[in-house]
Amino acid sequence: MAVERTLSIIKPDAVGKNVIGEILTRFEKAGLQIVAAKMLKLDDEKAGGFYAEHKERPFFGDLVGFMTSGPVVVQVLEGENAIAKNRELMGATNPKEADAGTIRADFAESIDANAVHGSDSAESAAREIDYFFNAEEICAR
Ligand code: PPS
Repeated sequence: MAVERTLSIIKPDAVGKNVIGEILTRFEKAGLQIVAAKMLKLDDEKAGGFYAEHKERPFFGDLVGFMTSGPVVVQVLEGENAIAKNRELMGATNPKEADAGTIRADFAESIDANAVHGSDSAESAAREIDYFFNAEEICAR
């Protein structure tokens, strides 16, 4: 299995619930290493650019509003099969459909306040990591 990197974001609702540590622990317990991390307050431009592919969707304004409503913690996770493994740990986008024991089932309230983001493909991971981190900020282990 290939060693991959993926971008994870702990969203404002989860930061507000004080569960940053619990979420990071789930990644580490699943064998993913945190090779970069920072806490940020996104502005409209940074959040809108990140979700640019959803610009025409009816929820775009609400999504940007939510992602700028408080601090987020962005991380690069590294490990075997990291992209799919992170998506499994996260659970479905809509927490009502998320499997028991996943991050969204345990910590998320709704489809728009859903605790975490994770890259959905190798292409997205490369683009999203590059969107938040420069090479010097990622510490290979
Ligand atoms: S989709 O419908 O398959 O394109 O959705 P997805 O790629 O899983 O994620 C879309 C992101 O937008 C956030 N969001 C919503 N999605 C769907 N419907 C509504 N109403 C909605 N509101 C917000 C959703 O949480 C996804 O965010 P990320 O950060 O990518 O998980």
